[in-house]
Amino acid sequence: MEILRCEGVRKIYGSGAGQVAALDGIDLSVEKGEFTAVMGASGSGKSTLLHILGSVDRPTEGRVFVEGTDITLMKPAKAALFRRRKVGIVYQFYNLVPTLTVRKNILLPLALDRRKPNQEFFDEIVKMLGIADRLDALPGQLSGGQQQRTAIARALIYRPAIVLADEPTGNLDRKNSEEIVELLKLSNKNLNQTILLITHDEKVALETERVVTLEDGRIISDRKRG
Ligand SMILES: Nc1ncnc2c1ncn2[C@@H]1O[C@H](COP(=O)(O)OP(=O)(O)O)[C@@H](O)[C@H]1O
Ligand SMILES: [Mg+2]
Repeated sequence: MEILRCEGVRKIYGSGAGQVAALDGIDLSVEKGEFTAVMGASGSGKSTLLHILGSVDRPTEGRVFVEGTDITLMKPAKAALFRRRKVGIVYQFYNLVPTLTVRKNILLPLALDRRKPNQEFFDEIVKMLGIADRLDALPGQLSGGQQQRTAIARALIYRPAIVLADEPTGNLDRKNSEEIVELLKLSNKNLNQTILLITHDEKVALETERVVTLEDGRIISDRKRG
């Protein structure tokens, strides 16, 4: 089943002589359960692509479908709801709410919709991510690796169509970085969670089953490993 589809996506910043084509004709299809790495040098358009896939930003041209819905046509309020329910985003610097406990940070997407968590699923993911004993701590009391585990739990809690992770290991040392990649792999395998992982680290990309490489806003290679 196709979860994500990009057709002719372009994103132009600026105007006149100062124009930059951050994305220049992206066609991409992602199937349910795929774990894909998006690689590319700094400035190749990785974050721009992630923001468009996550309906944080709109393309200048082209269309993006998530589970068959064209997200490029959505009004901002609807896009915000869609993002919360259908897309889990994990950032390099965690983006946790510092005044909320780990438990409340994880449950925030549900709380904003006045929904109660499925306790079994909550227990399963905090156990899988190794943070079950830190639920009452504040983010500032956690290590970087633990903060990122919390951010991953928050991204998973809604069972989104897709998890988008933008350089999630970029702020971590090698050991923590390897652990976070292992946990993303586990989320992919145990929950059949579709994941798009953005990285410029070749070692990280090699852990996934498919690697899409960007250069100057274009896909220059798309390789699946058998
Ligand atoms: N808000 C913006 N305004 C103008 N140019 C931008 C903006 N965001 C990104 N760019 C430009 O678009 C290109 C791609 O950027 P980005 O998607 O951040 O790349 P990456 O994440 O691969 O480093 C770069 O040339 C960058 O300078
Ligand atoms: Mg970036």
